[in-house]
Amino acid sequence: MEICRTSVELAARKSLRVDKPLVLVPTMGALHEGHLSLVRLGRRLGPVVVSIFVNPTQFGEGEDFDAYPRDLDADLSMLESLGVEAVFAPGMSEMYGDDGEVTVLPGRRAMGLCGGDRPGHFTGVLTVVAKLIGAVRPDVAVFGRKDAQQCLVIAQMVEDLKMGVRLIDGPTIREPDGLALSSRNRYLDTGQRDQALCLFRSLTAGRQLLAAGERGRDAVAATMLRELKAADEVEYAEVRRVPGLENEKRVTGRIVLAVAAKVGPARLIDNFALEVTDHGVIDGFLLGDPTGI
Ligand code: PAJ
Repeated sequence: MEICRTSVELAARKSLRVDKPLVLVPTMGALHEGHLSLVRLGRRLGPVVVSIFVNPTQFGEGEDFDAYPRDLDADLSMLESLGVEAVFAPGMSEMYGDDGEVTVLPGRRAMGLCGGDRPGHFTGVLTVVAKLIGAVRPDVAVFGRKDAQQCLVIAQMVEDLKMGVRLIDGPTIREPDGLALSSRNRYLDTGQRDQALCLFRSLTAGRQLLAAGERGRDAVAATMLRELKAADEVEYAEVRRVPGLENEKRVTGRIVLAVAAKVGPARLIDNFALEVTDHGVIDGFLLGDPTGI
């Protein structure tokens, strides 16, 4: 497994240019089973490049950029055992140079949810993802459904800017009790770890209400909110359409139930992507159905 620090080094890697699609899995490191599941998904398609870069421009002021966990050695040994072809671990100057002036502004999908609570966040995400796609030039990029709005905002960029990359979303990996894996779970002590389960309970309650036949957005959101109040600070509990993230009164078709809340020092997010029909509720996806791979 090669570790490349620059896009020039990456371009020199002949093993990446084989007859199969080249797959990029972008991460900020501190890898866990959620990240690794995306790597495994990608490996089914072709050689995988995993990028590891803690991107400063997507963190707001007062957020956890400095405290964000970094453990490159542990990350590399996990990736090696999965048969990753190359790791792209650029330094700050490779990604932003001295001036790094050009940015990518998101469209409507970045309004509200994490875009409302974290101004500038999705500009930072899109800018770095555009750079990573430019550096690696993959055929396919794999993202986690865990960050639903991120998936859909990136999909809009790739479509609008004709980037020619196929996007796939892998399912959210959870602890046995439902807590979604997150690098930020490391900030939680035992009591807060239990408290954090309110995100999953909130989504489960929303799904149950839909399964029981409720189709009113406000009723579903209110039920989700009730469970989420066990957190220290609620940010949002919403029902949005997929892929456009419109906020409509009647819940039908492909939707996402999305929650965000603070528990102790950690800001946590989670969601269920669902398909709501006249007959009931089934699991949904956001970008491209990974079950067919
Ligand atoms: P990071 O938080 O490191 O996540 C990297 C990828 O792993 C993202 O696509 C995310 O959705 C996915 N992921 C995280 N937790 C997951 C889980 N429990 N199950 C499945 N997938 C999970 O997201 C970012 O980094 C950054 O914003 C990035 C896209 C790398 C741009 O800087």
